[in-house]
Amino acid sequence: MRRKLAAGNWKMNGTTANLAEIEALAAAHPAPRCDVLICPPATLVAQMAWKAGKGPVAVGGQDCHPEVSGAHTGDVSAAMLADAGARYVIVGHSERRADHGETDALVRAKAEAAHAAGLVAIVCVGETETQRDAGETLDVIGAQLEGSVPAGATSANTVIAYEPVWAIGTGRTPTLDQIAEVHDFLRAGLAKRFADAGDMRLLYGGSVKPSNASEIFATSNVDGALVGGASLKAADFGAIVAALDAS
Ligand code: 13P
Repeated sequence: MRRKLAAGNWKMNGTTANLAEIEALAAAHPAPRCDVLICPPATLVAQMAWKAGKGPVAVGGQDCHPEVSGAHTGDVSAAMLADAGARYVIVGHSERRADHGETDALVRAKAEAAHAAGLVAIVCVGETETQRDAGETLDVIGAQLEGSVPAGATSANTVIAYEPVWAIGTGRTPTLDQIAEVHDFLRAGLAKRFADAGDMRLLYGGSVKPSNASEIFATSNVDGALVGGASLKAADFGAIVAALDAS
């Protein structure tokens, strides 16, 4: 059985005032059956991890540099995130790929750095609307999966997140059949490379909210969600956690 995962990505949102949200989340869901994760901006990782303590909410980073340390102004390493109390890190989010020109090779190096630091890497893949309209979705995702997921990936150190670029922050979502098609394709693709692919967790991300979470969680090979906007408020994210627990 794959343990389900509700992951929140706060992106570039949140200051110390927002730390109250994770206390509210932990108070409302003290013993979820699924794993619950919040990835705040790097400035909040240590304080959030401190507040989260041994409670039900894990803390993660949103990105990491592939090296452990060095002359890389403004960057944060996976080892630093682990030291700050993070247990996960997102790598290859489409906003990083688009805003910072991150390639599959760089994303793979970041995932390897995460593993070396003892973090679980959440590797993101997803097509643009142009690519979907051109019928290239599975080709694009297959290439990203091949190029971004390192050879050392296991179900314990790697989670894959399917995030169609056109569904992020738009309120639009693929049909359930489209989500199932990609998630089944991901499972089969992973099975060609990894012995424990059947145990790897596959998250869907892109406009997940309380009102659509249950149907998405009932979809083939969906083991949870990577949630942006709806993870910022404990009430909304809590409802998504509850939907995952009930699935
Ligand atoms: P939204 O849930 O705001 O669409 O963002 C999804 C996402 O990019 C999570 O990483």
